Amino acid sequence: MAQADALQRTPASIDVSDPRLYQDDTWRPLFARLRQDDPVHYCEASPFGPYWSVTRYDDIFEVELDHHNYSSSAELGGIQIMDQPLGQEFANFIRMDPPGHTAHRRTVAPIVAPSNLAHLESLIRQRTADVLDALPRNETFDWAERVSTDLTNMMLATLFDFPWADRGRLTWWSDVAIANVDAPDAVVHSSAERIAELTSMGAYFRKLWDARAAAPPAFDLISMLAHSEATRHLQAREFIGTMALLIVGGNDTTRNSMTAGLMALVENPDQFHLLRSRPELIPSLVSEIIRYHTPVLHMRRTARNDVELAGRRIARGDKVVMWYISGNRDDGKIDRADEFIIDRNKPRQHLAFGAGIHRCVGDRLAEQQIRILWEEILRRDLRFEIVAPPQRLYSNFIRGIRSLPVRIMV
Ligand code: HEM
Repeated sequence: MAQADALQRTPASIDVSDPRLYQDDTWRPLFARLRQDDPVHYCEASPFGPYWSVTRYDDIFEVELDHHNYSSSAELGGIQIMDQPLGQEFANFIRMDPPGHTAHRRTVAPIVAPSNLAHLESLIRQRTADVLDALPRNETFDWAERVSTDLTNMMLATLFDFPWADRGRLTWWSDVAIANVDAPDAVVHSSAERIAELTSMGAYFRKLWDARAAAPPAFDLISMLAHSEATRHLQAREFIGTMALLIVGGNDTTRNSMTAGLMALVENPDQFHLLRSRPELIPSLVSEIIRYHTPVLHMRRTARNDVELAGRRIARGDKVVMWYISGNRDDGKIDRADEFIIDRNKPRQHLAFGAGIHRCVGDRLAEQQIRILWEEILRRDLRFEIVAPPQRLYSNFIRGIRSLPVRIMV
């Protein structure tokens, strides 16, 4: 949608749920308009039913922190603008409120505790170095596939202690879990097909789970869940849902940040130059990449009670969508928010990891992987050219980049 078109619409007719906005990368003017004129916006009719859009930073924060009024529960619809088909929900702890959420989250949290992250540092660095050294020089290749997908996939396999030769399946299942079945190039084309794939994923994981449950506790995600009082008796659907959450959580988001980061630096050569002259900016670069890209476009809540937000009356049962992609571009909170600036004063001030009790559990691991990638790129002084525009994902949930043809110049 052209900027002029967006500006002519009345806020009432604006519907930001259309996945094409994110595939075509044309969402900016619509959210700018909403933030300015109707920041908590009611869309009466959309393919996903009526919903509220929360578009300003502070209002999103308020919803995040108020989990008593704004529920994540699968029974009320879960965490995406698209309701999970009733009776076909794959519950997991991102789709739960306390107290269930608290106990499940606590079970997996040790895998990303600082001591384990320190332990993983040299492994991540070695793999990153190997991947970068194996890339062709002066030849076009797909950065998304060769670097972003491969590195995040290996990390996930380590977290699950997953059979190495089969690790490609993790990426496939992640793509299946988030696929929009209506997209022409979707990896699955119906809910039934998706459920069949995820059920076979469940069967694969169940075998690993049974073996780990029978063995002494070990330090991997499957063993942790199989031995925890809170999660050892998960029912089939919840078991599949929990595996899918950990796969998508650890995979898609970090993968897309790795691709988006390269794009942002190539498109902003002054920032790339600054980075080369001041490599100590890498940690703040990492936060800026994640803010600027915002790999998770939105999270949804359902109002448990009648509630007021920024002067609007939200009714019990209403769908409330927090658009992180918009909050992260809110000039009222973040200076020159539409620009990519690697030396910001408060680089960690962004909403890409959410906030409150559901704030991303893997945030430090994601930052670590991206930090090491950039440390190793700078160490090799790699220079890049983007050969063709990126291919983006048709989705209103994940801001995905499916491919990015690049060339390393020597
Ligand atoms: C740049 C990378 C990442 C981004 C942008 C991201 C983003 C998010 C967001 C927006 C949420 C929901 C927050 C909320 O509702 O307030 C979330 C939750 C979650 N993320 Fe991440 N994530 C990333 C990496 C990871 C990694 C590496 C893992 C696992 C190793 C992970 C696992 C999870 C899990 C399990 C949850 C659910 C937490 C809960 O419900 O308590 N994420 N993430």
